[in-house]
Amino acid sequence: MCGIIGYIGSEKASPILLRGLINLEYRGYDSAGMAILNSKGVECKKAAGKIEEIHKRLNFLDLEGDIGIAHNRWATHGEVNDINAHPHFDSTKTIAIVHNGIIENYRELKEKLSTHTFESETDSEVIAHLIEEELKRGLSFEEAFISTISQLEGNYAILAIKNGEEKILAARKGSPLVVGIADHGTFLSSDIPSFLEYTKKVVYLQDYDVVVATKNGVRIYNLSGNEVSRPVDTVEWDAEQIKKGGFEHYMLKEILEQSETIQRAIQQDESVVNRIADEIREAYGIFFVGCGSSYHACLTGSYLFSKIANTHVNVALASEFENYEHFLTENTLVFAISQSGETADVLEAVRAAKIRGSRVIGIVNKMGSSLTRESDEFLLMNAGPEICVLSTKTYTSQVALMALLAYALAGKYEDGVNRLQGLYMDIYNLTSRSMREHLRYLAEMLVNEEHIYLIGRGLQYATAMEGALKIKEVSYIHAEAFAGGELKHGPLALIEDGTPVMVFVARDNEKKVISNASEVKARGGFIIGVSADRHEVFDYWVKVPECEDLNPIAQIIPIQILAYQLAVLKGLDPDKPRNLAKSVTVI
Ligand code: F6R
Repeated sequence: MCGIIGYIGSEKASPILLRGLINLEYRGYDSAGMAILNSKGVECKKAAGKIEEIHKRLNFLDLEGDIGIAHNRWATHGEVNDINAHPHFDSTKTIAIVHNGIIENYRELKEKLSTHTFESETDSEVIAHLIEEELKRGLSFEEAFISTISQLEGNYAILAIKNGEEKILAARKGSPLVVGIADHGTFLSSDIPSFLEYTKKVVYLQDYDVVVATKNGVRIYNLSGNEVSRPVDTVEWDAEQIKKGGFEHYMLKEILEQSETIQRAIQQDESVVNRIADEIREAYGIFFVGCGSSYHACLTGSYLFSKIANTHVNVALASEFENYEHFLTENTLVFAISQSGETADVLEAVRAAKIRGSRVIGIVNKMGSSLTRESDEFLLMNAGPEICVLSTKTYTSQVALMALLAYALAGKYEDGVNRLQGLYMDIYNLTSRSMREHLRYLAEMLVNEEHIYLIGRGLQYATAMEGALKIKEVSYIHAEAFAGGELKHGPLALIEDGTPVMVFVARDNEKKVISNASEVKARGGFIIGVSADRHEVFDYWVKVPECEDLNPIAQIIPIQILAYQLAVLKGLDPDKPRNLAKSVTVI
């Protein structure tokens, strides 16, 4: 959700920023823009639309200069149009800012600036005008910037440049911002992939950090103006890892990576996992909290904890968690699950839990993300960058970690590791070319459907829910999951001649779910079985290995591939579904 990038150094900034914007596209955006500082002042180009199209029309590379800031916008305040695109300026057109986040008190701030004329409907523009106002009081650019930041309520990652000042100023609170340190210059960005081809050296900023980046390097201050020190880290990801690896889309590449990523997810310190298992035993009340696919991983986790470790956990959508907050005590253990570690609803749940003294454990993919900083402890998924907006490999890594915890809780850590390791070949086969062709054939049968239903029981119900999300978000076909036992309580009314219904079957619950499938078939439904064994009721069969507790990993992979094929057949871009963003940093 919005991406910002700034560069200051010895190289021409516009090509670097343009590449950075393209590398940040995966976060979702509707407009883009760039401002460069040069001898003419601050020059800017911005518009609504896709970066490539904007660049074709406006040519960002015309902008000369070695200091600049750029932005991919995802509209929150004000419609999608050229004027609302960032960067935004003050009234003198000498200060340009880009902002990611939401300024909650922008209306009050605008009222204070009643003599100013605002061009856009955004909350962000107020930042440039506030800096202008502070400068009028005789403050330096840095002082004016800090004073402005101190007046903001809400979330922000901000970059600012000013005519006559050879520097970029930056600040963050609640929205991601990292510094990249290359030989030829400094980057300030929402995310590491935007500059990874230039450097692996990064500094993770903390809330209320203010950065002054000049051609001589970077200094970091707190809001009182005192210098603070932040360590320089080296990221493990290489530039190749974030490229498409020869595939047409990141989604497919990331689906195919899962035989590896499951193995990386289980590379955990055994003593840490066992200690967390002890904490679970001692806790009075356990919550799994997440959104979207991560919520489905939570749901899967709750079935796994029940099945493997005989332990009850509460599962809550992070956006609904406030309704349960009054149950939290110092003895409650909250697991916050998020691939990005930046999802606003999840972070809000984490903060609410911490206020009540509950311990929070994150399960997260992004090192350095807000969740890694705000949770008391975290387990990393180690899935590598996931560029496609849809969660695929991070979902199965989350489930793998949930399973590992459940095994540890049952005193069977080794057994859990062995079982998860055993998935390697199963997943390899599930993503093979012949499997993809089989699913392509199924996609051709389904591509013109308006509705697809998915049913399962227990672990397979959670898989059906995740499968429905994958299909709908990437192919825009309405897909809905039902617990098998619920069919007769309403959903059966939806079944007509030929209605496609996917049925997830595990050997330990096949009787009941096959009987549910028969109820559907009797009403004309077209049954697509996802199972290890063929059943008579199936009209089409997707053969998956029987993986018992780990069925949720094996059974979702064909649906991820099917969803991908549906999107491709419909001519859609699976990596960037409409209206969605990779990292949802607003509530
Ligand atoms: C679905 C998807 C979303 C995310 C959700 C939570 O494919 O990607 O539903 O799962 O927005 O995101 P994280 O895991 O980053 O908190």
